[in-house]
Amino acid sequence: MKMTNRWNQFIYRLWAPVYDMTVGHFFLPGRVRAIEVLNLQPGERVLLVGVGTGADFPLLPQGIQAVGVDISADMLAKARQKLPLPGREVTLLQGDAQQLLVEEAAFDAVIFNLILSVIPDGAACLRENLRASSPAAGW
Ligand SMILES: C[S@@+](CC[C@H](N)C(=O)[O-])C[C@H]1O[C@@H](n2cnc3c(N)ncnc32)[C@H](O)[C@@H]1O
Repeated sequence: MKMTNRWNQFIYRLWAPVYDMTVGHFFLPGRVRAIEVLNLQPGERVLLVGVGTGADFPLLPQGIQAVGVDISADMLAKARQKLPLPGREVTLLQGDAQQLLVEEAAFDAVIFNLILSVIPDGAACLRENLRASSPAAGW
């Protein structure tokens, strides 16, 4: 089945109430590892693409500035319930990961857990993640 943004908004409206108890719960070791590998330092800016319900929030180190983007207002509403996070500054935006409304190289790191398998154009999402986190010409 071909994914579309509209389809994902519909599906994640259904998932939002039960996501943390089901899917969100199963991937803890991978989430921990991803954040370990990034070795985020206080003051750094991290972009969470397809942030969902904010399942990664508790793992963000102190002193981090984070921006979470998701297409689903329902998933973002669940993420918002987890804020504020003591010692971390988190902003949430509704938007499309295939066309991020962020400036080039605005972030030190990007976390995009479990989004590439559901987004319509994974290559566009990866290009946008690179653009958001590295200075490069010709994006
Ligand atoms: C499987 S969930 C993963 C959520 C979270 N990253 C996690 O690890 O639990 C996939 C998320 O991608 C979001 N998503 C799907 N298409 C998107 C798009 N075009 N732009 C931004 N977010 C999108 C969905 O709304 C959903 O919240």
